[in-house]
Amino acid sequence: MAANAAPLPADGVLPRHVAIIMDGNGRWAKKRFLPRIAGHRQGVEAVRRVSRAARQLGIEVLTLYAFSSENWRRPEDEVRDLMGLLRHFLASELDELISEGVKLKVIGEFRRLSPDLVEMIDQAMARTAASPGPTLVIALNYGAQAEIAAAARHLASEAAAGRIAIEAIDEKAIDNALETRDLPPLDLLIRTSGEQRLSNFLLWQAAYAELLFVDTLWPDFDGDTLAEAIGQFGRRQRRFGGL
Ligand code: FPP
Repeated sequence: MAANAAPLPADGVLPRHVAIIMDGNGRWAKKRFLPRIAGHRQGVEAVRRVSRAARQLGIEVLTLYAFSSENWRRPEDEVRDLMGLLRHFLASELDELISEGVKLKVIGEFRRLSPDLVEMIDQAMARTAASPGPTLVIALNYGAQAEIAAAARHLASEAAAGRIAIEAIDEKAIDNALETRDLPPLDLLIRTSGEQRLSNFLLWQAAYAELLFVDTLWPDFDGDTLAEAIGQFGRRQRRFGGL
């Protein structure tokens, strides 16, 4: 279904911040006797479709797990292919993101990627920095434990320098030291392809998020699947530890 036809969920509350672990590209390709890169290519098409659908639905922030800090363990040519797709995505999508007022943000240790890609990311973030939003967040070379460790180091060095009191290191202070500090709280975390793990993604931020595991392989995910997920979110009762 075309992204601009994605129906609004009838009965529910709209999540402000949705994150997706995009899983199943390899299996999508395998089922078709295609190389894994074909699955990743279709995965990029799904990224385009779903980010448009998210904007249509009025979701403020969509965060996508594109490359984890553990993905370096994949064969070298697959890593190279993924980086190539990312370059292509940034080059081909930037104008649309700008014209639609989307802000692009990259989280993770992306500065360790190749210098040309870092340059493209910096340019894309700079060119969309003043956009009113919605925000598309891409997690690249991201690992939640490393993010939390970096926040801890930062707060410890602030305390050691006497700029903050040790007692001031509370949940709020950690929130504010994470890369997501300027984003609304995570409401809904979706993982595709039937796997039920968080794989080191947004571990702190997911504390009160609704988790949704869907069987759809990422390359088959579209505006309808997203609207269905949002509908399910709207039917859940969030209690945040209360009754
Ligand atoms: C998981 O599928 C997917 C990834 C590790 C990469 C996700 C990347 C993309 C969708 C493309 C690049 C993204 C952007 C934003 C341009 P898998 O390979 O682990 O699938 P499998 O578990 O079936 O093997």
